[in-house]
Order: sequence, then structure tokens, then C-alpha cells
Amino acid sequence: MTGPRIRLYRPEDRAALFDVCVRTGLDGGDARGVYADEDLLPAVFLAPYLDLEPELAFVLDRGDGVAVGYLVGTADTPAFAGRLRREYLPRVAGRFPAPPDPPTTPSEEMLTVLHAPEGMVRPEVAGYPAHLHIDLLPGHQRGGHGRALMTAYLAALAERAVPGVHLVMPSANRLARVFYDRLGFHDLGVEHPSVTYLARAVDAG
Ligand SMILES: CC(C)(COP(=O)(O)OP(=O)(O)OC[C@H]1O[C@@H](n2cnc3c(N)ncnc32)[C@H](O)[C@@H]1OP(=O)(O)O)[C@@H](O)C(=O)NCCC(=O)NCCS
Repeated sequence: MTGPRIRLYRPEDRAALFDVCVRTGLDGGDARGVYADEDLLPAVFLAPYLDLEPELAFVLDRGDGVAVGYLVGTADTPAFAGRLRREYLPRVAGRFPAPPDPPTTPSEEMLTVLHAPEGMVRPEVAGYPAHLHIDLLPGHQRGGHGRALMTAYLAALAERAVPGVHLVMPSANRLARVFYDRLGFHDLGVEHPSVTYLARAVDAG
């Protein structure tokens, strides 16, 4: 087995990446058991990116072909939200239907996010059209792989002349905030009770 390396996503990584998403989906910790359908979290925060923008889906391969982490993203959030509405949602709405309004359970709250992709498009992020999600399995954190995934993603955005990138993170995930601060992200100051919007220029730092 060779050492860990960053590579592009392959369809055979899908189940492993779904597992990474669930095991890191509760403010950076294990979300198993939180949602009625274990695939709901990946259906919101991972699968749309794998399906719609696989050329910006980077994985951490532990060295034997097994994916143990990922950074997924889009270069163009408004275009991505449109494709999510037109192409992705019709494919998954049978398994993940629109919830009642207002939602009352964690699963219904997550389904609300899934069915409102237009919520990604906000004036505060207009100068940072790309956005991303990054997660590594616990045994592969703090080894420089998050920084390496971000470097690969930023280089791909620079090639596409994308000026900036943002992300939305649970404010409770304080360790992730330390990571993003180290990587040059700043707080956009969006007022929200539970999430924080961060951003950085693509060519800065
Ligand atoms: C957050 C995460 C992606 C960071 O990736 P990582 O591989 O652990 O981070 P790296 O080892 O590349 O660290 C990069 C820098 O951030 C700092 N950093 C990362 N995690 C840190 C932590 N928990 N505490 C303090 N500093 C931290 C490192 O010290 C490093 O600084 P340096 O390179 O300037 O010395 C990863 O830990 C993870 O997947 N966590 C669980 C899921 C999660 O929270 N995802 C984010 C959801 S918003």
C-alpha cells in the first residue's frame, strides 16, 4: 500500500463517501442515528456535488484505493442551485419527499434544506461564487490532508478563473472554524442562529 493521496472522485467511491458524510455530519462528529434514513445527509450535502460537478469532487485515498475523505464543491453556486432544482431533485424526491411546513423533526428540517436549493443564493456570497463541503474520517484528520484537499480545489477554481469561494458551517463546529481560519477564510457576518458563512478569495494566500 502506498501513502495517502488526493485524487478525483470515482463512482466506486460513492458508498465510502456516504459513510464519511454520516460519520462527520453532526457538527464534525458522528451523525449515525440522527436521521430516519441514513442516506438523507449525503443526499443533501454530498451526492448532488458528486452527480452534478464530479470534476470538482476530490477524495483522500488512503493509499489502497479506499476513500476516507472528500472535498466536494461547485464553481458557480447559482448555476448549481438551478441544476439541483431541475436535474437532481426530480431524481431523489421519491425517496426524499418535501416535508410538512414547518418541519418538526431533524429529518424534516434536512428535507426542507434539500427542497430549497435557491436558499444557497444570497447577496452576501455573490463575490464568492464557488462553495464547498469537506469531511475526513476521524482517523485521517489533523494530518495535513484537509489542507491538501483545499489546495487541490482552489487550484481547480483558479484554473476556471473563479474569484472566490464560500462555505456554510454549523457555528457549533469550533474545530472546523480553526481549520478554516488557518486556511484564510473570513466571516461574512451573515446573521443566522446556527450557521456561519465564511469566504476567501481564490488567489489569495
Ligand atoms: C475540519 C477538517 C476538514 C480539517 O482537515 P484536517 O486534515 O484535519 O486539517 P489539516 O491537518 O490539514 O490542518 C490544516 C491546518 O488547520 C489546523 N487545524 C485543523 N484542525 C484543527 C483542530 N482541530 N484544532 C486546531 N487546529 C486545527 C492545523 O493545525 C493546520 O494548521 P497549519 O497547516 O497552519 O499548521 C477535518 O478535521 C474534518 O474532516 N473534521 C470533521 C468533519 C468536519 O468538521 N468538517 C467540516 C464541516 S463544516
